[in-house]
Amino acid sequence: MSTTSAPGTDARPAEVPDYPMPRAAGCPFDPPPGLYALQAQSPISRVRLWDGSTPWLITRYEDMRTLLGDPRISADSTHPHYPYQGPGQKERRTQSRAFIAMDDPEHARLRRMVTAAFSIKRVEALRPAIQKIVDGLIDAMLAGPKPVDLVQAFALPLPSLVICRLLGVPYADHDFFQANSKMLIKRTTTPEEARAATQRLIDYLDRLIGDKLAHPAGDLLSTLAERVRIGELSRREAVDTGMLLLIAGHETTANMIALGTLALLQHPDQIAQLRDSGDPRLVASAVEELLRYLTIVHSGRRRVALEDIEIGGRTIRAGDGVILTNDIGNRDPAGFPDPDRLDIGRNPRHHVAFGFGVHQCLGQPLARVELQVAYSTLYRRIPALQPAVDLDEIPFKHDGLVYGVYELPITW
Ligand code: HEM
Repeated sequence: MSTTSAPGTDARPAEVPDYPMPRAAGCPFDPPPGLYALQAQSPISRVRLWDGSTPWLITRYEDMRTLLGDPRISADSTHPHYPYQGPGQKERRTQSRAFIAMDDPEHARLRRMVTAAFSIKRVEALRPAIQKIVDGLIDAMLAGPKPVDLVQAFALPLPSLVICRLLGVPYADHDFFQANSKMLIKRTTTPEEARAATQRLIDYLDRLIGDKLAHPAGDLLSTLAERVRIGELSRREAVDTGMLLLIAGHETTANMIALGTLALLQHPDQIAQLRDSGDPRLVASAVEELLRYLTIVHSGRRRVALEDIEIGGRTIRAGDGVILTNDIGNRDPAGFPDPDRLDIGRNPRHHVAFGFGVHQCLGQPLARVELQVAYSTLYRRIPALQPAVDLDEIPFKHDGLVYGVYELPITW
């Protein structure tokens, strides 16, 4: 079927399901049943969002890669039919729009200014420092009382310490930037809350860029400040880029560490393999499989069609909003045999947990090294690790743009 309705709307409102959809009770690691049904029966179909708009939802792996690689699909959040996750997100992007929400050539110009810091070579050089941080955090957990919240004691400090060091942000400010970031990646945040949190982070990063202009320190914010000084970047572009890196750099990886640990603890055979093998190839494969299986950035890649696009027997019209749901895409049997089984040996490097196309995650080499070091060290050093509460007592981030757990009490 092709639609002839106006962009952003649908002629038959009653038939259009709401999105996002709830996960099934007792299945916190699987995408919502409604997404499995759409993937099987109607893989390119309209859904209804919080503001009544009806963008297309793309649920099959191959269609997702085709569209995310298509230059006629735009990530520009200023487009009138951009499918926002909620009113808070709309407000946030109105105030601060980094290159994640821009198209080339602007996107490429800004991304290029920070790519070198995230190259595999530069990130591998950080591995010993990351190992030291991991060991220090585990030493502190082992020396302290039990049970302990893995999120606060380990999952959140590790990527926060690493991104602070890379950017040149003082870790002493972690309570401040973690609290404001948390507000910005919640679907339920109100426009007022989003505006205030975004402004606090803008002011903070602007102050830091000012400091780096006066006293360059060899970190990534100093590199951005230098670009400002020579006129290649506006101060505001430097602030928006710094904010994107600070938020993306800690929240995502923190959620993967905690949720990945919980998923492994529910699969004792897999965690035992990981602990006992000592093979770095198995560790790397386990990281890819957990990224695929959990797909924590579960709110879908948000886009707008710039031209009419024919795909899968449908016509996506110029101006239509498009959401590419990489969580269910990573469970497509056409991309991954037996997709609902967690199998740390399968090494599914072609997953779309980091997205696909020009906006594919810039920080993925860093996330991979942090996760490899975290998973391979934590279960080896604390072999008796176990959750301190039942699964149904753990608060999952159903309202988060990034999925995970708010708390994970553990003991050993
Ligand atoms: C497990 C951890 C991570 C996951 C699952 C993840 C996931 C993603 C995804 C799905 C995208 C694509 C967004 C889109 O297409 O709209 C993305 C983009 C991005 N990520 Fe990550 N990310 C992770 C860690 C990181 C880290 C550590 C950084 C470091 C700063 C980072 C920085 C970025 C940036 C800057 C972009 C925008 C790229 C662009 O628009 O060109 N991410 N990430």
